[in-house]
Amino acid sequence: EVKNLEEIFEQRIARDEKIEPKDWMPEKYRKTHIRQISQHAHSEIVGMLPEGNWITRAPSLRRKVALLAKVQDEAGHGLYLYSACETLGVSRDELYEQLHSGKAKYSSIFNYPTITWADIGAIGWLVDGAAIINQVPLCSTSYGPYARAMIRVCKEESFHQRQGFEIMMTLAKGTPEQKAMAQDALNRWWWPSLMMLGPTDAESVHTAQSMKWKLKRKTNDELRQQFIDQTVPQAELIGLTIPDEDLKWNEEKGGYDFGEIDWDEFWQVVKGHGPCNKERLSARVNAWEKGEWVRDAAMAYAKKQEDKKLR
Ligand code: ACO
Repeated sequence: EVKNLEEIFEQRIARDEKIEPKDWMPEKYRKTHIRQISQHAHSEIVGMLPEGNWITRAPSLRRKVALLAKVQDEAGHGLYLYSACETLGVSRDELYEQLHSGKAKYSSIFNYPTITWADIGAIGWLVDGAAIINQVPLCSTSYGPYARAMIRVCKEESFHQRQGFEIMMTLAKGTPEQKAMAQDALNRWWWPSLMMLGPTDAESVHTAQSMKWKLKRKTNDELRQQFIDQTVPQAELIGLTIPDEDLKWNEEKGGYDFGEIDWDEFWQVVKGHGPCNKERLSARVNAWEKGEWVRDAAMAYAKKQEDKKLR
């Protein structure tokens, strides 16, 4: 009977039908979705930390309002994604436990420090730029709750990318010191942004199966190429230099050739040895522990309201 169900399931995937929470699905499909969606949710939540670092020091009220809004959006993305993940039969508490114990992965990119204000520009421009490229194809993935969440997430990411690029553009047009600060941020964020899109296709263990199940619609290398091709002209426009001596337009392939990525650095960061892994994790654990009284108070209040209704 399972074989029959599996066949019906495969046919639905082939017809581009959305799979919904109560539908039958193979156990591996469910597990790999929990893996990807929860890693994505954790990335949104941990991703608030590097930028949160600059909220109190944003250079103007206007910049502060935009940054606050953006960081709040990231919290919202994390929460929809946790909800989407819960529809696959895992609890929020389990997901938090996996993050706080260091078992769960989250994106490598959020383990780098935000040293200057220009880093906020670079994150919006490059990190959110790469995130959009990664996430637009996810709007047409096969699991309904995830695909639908991605539509709104992408709209908001697009605002994030623009606010970052605008910060970089302003700095690049500013004093020589400001321009140097923008260039320095680009130098430090460029390579980690390329790594963020995941290992090469040859090294990517999940791509083949995830493409079959339409959990992924483009491979890591395809997304990386698209990101580079889109970003190089933007850097040229604002007079900044991409820190890659091997970067060169390749007429034949209609895209840029680029230098060797330091995959050792990537795996070091993924395994927990990046510049800020410990700091990020302890910030999350701390927030969870210090927030316990708020959760308890909210639960007590909800119970009181419920008891009142019953009386
Ligand atoms: N950081 C940390 N771990 C990573 C990264 C990364 N940048 N890229 C890949 N990995 C991990 C994978 O999670 C996997 O580990 P696992 O088996 O323990 O789960 C391993 O490296 C091998 O990688 P792949 O086989 O390529 O994994 P996958 O097919 O899942 O592709 C990708 C990785 C592209 C990140 C995919 O999961 C994805 O598109 N996820 C949804 C988007 C997302 O999570 N974005 C996060 C950052 S965006 C933001 O928050 C602003």
